[in-house]
Amino acid sequence: MKKILSIIITTASIIGCNPSKQSTVPSNTIDSTKGLKDYYANYFPIGVAVSPRSLKTEEAALITQQFNSMTPENCMKWEAIHPKENEYNFRDADSIAAFAQRNHMKLRGHTLCWHNQTPNWLFRNADGSTVSREVLLQRLKQHITTVVNRYKGTVYAWDVVNEAISDKKDEYLRPSPWLSIIGEDYIAKAFEYAHEADPNAVLFYNDYNETSPVKRGKIYRLVKELKESGVPINGIGMQGHWAINEPSMQQLDSTLQLFASLKLKLQITELDISVYHKEHDARERKPEDNDTEFTKEREQKQMEAYKMCFQLFRKYRKALSGITFWNISDRHSWLDDFPVKNRKDYPLLFDRNLKPKKAFWEVVQ
Ligand code: GLA
Repeated sequence: MKKILSIIITTASIIGCNPSKQSTVPSNTIDSTKGLKDYYANYFPIGVAVSPRSLKTEEAALITQQFNSMTPENCMKWEAIHPKENEYNFRDADSIAAFAQRNHMKLRGHTLCWHNQTPNWLFRNADGSTVSREVLLQRLKQHITTVVNRYKGTVYAWDVVNEAISDKKDEYLRPSPWLSIIGEDYIAKAFEYAHEADPNAVLFYNDYNETSPVKRGKIYRLVKELKESGVPINGIGMQGHWAINEPSMQQLDSTLQLFASLKLKLQITELDISVYHKEHDARERKPEDNDTEFTKEREQKQMEAYKMCFQLFRKYRKALSGITFWNISDRHSWLDDFPVKNRKDYPLLFDRNLKPKKAFWEVVQ
């Protein structure tokens, strides 16, 4: 008995979980050996975006304890994995893939075609002029074929096209070199190349601001049209970069309902809930941004937001095939630098000491 107890205590301290401090939760409901993935075993896999470095720190134990799926945060993006025309850098992505395999975790690939984090050479000829449609399609095909082939059998799902829709009310697709050089069918082509390379991979269109009534209508239209014209698209990735005040329950509910009606797979691919009011554009830091404490009020609002989101995720469990958090703990999040540079945020379920926050307990109750 003593031995069992000490194992439980040791596990709890490794994962930084100290149930005695969680006053909101009745102690008999706490099982410190269970992670998010176990609580949600009958619902959907629970994933996390990782860097290769995080897998070599104490965060690794938290990852394997809590999650059963991973997404490389950056190292499969074009600029990282294919920085020069004839040079691929697979080292980092390989190390994440090996970790996933070792620990029997699912792996999502992110991302094959995006307007951001792309290298300069991609859209240019050697003389600096813009490439032709044929050349760019050839490069896209070569890239997708190489990357998808390499992770065939390890990566089960790809974010094939990321963020192709415009945020502007009266504009459909986002202006980008992909669109201006190839035309609208670059999206269909990317899916076709990915499907050719790995017919078993589950292929997603992925985007943010997906709960905005205007943007979700455009995402719906795009995906519906692709599906109806026979393009091998399997699902919609809703990024889920949300905040304590947005989306509302009604907004999220109606979005999930709309997307689920397409009868494709649906995943939340980049979940985090900022403790600040939602702002969509990057801006300078102002004096009023100096209050960056994780106050009781912020904690409470974030807990309610997480509770509401997971209530709806459970409601749409038949449509949802995965929920992935964007980063591991409040130790580090991309929101520490967005939309306000150098403003600490606390968007995740684990705090800076890797301990579960109150929101965690709301999510697993
Ligand atoms: C988008 C991308 C992600 C990541 C986040 C910010 O959501 O899809 O890869 O860059 O922005 O971290």
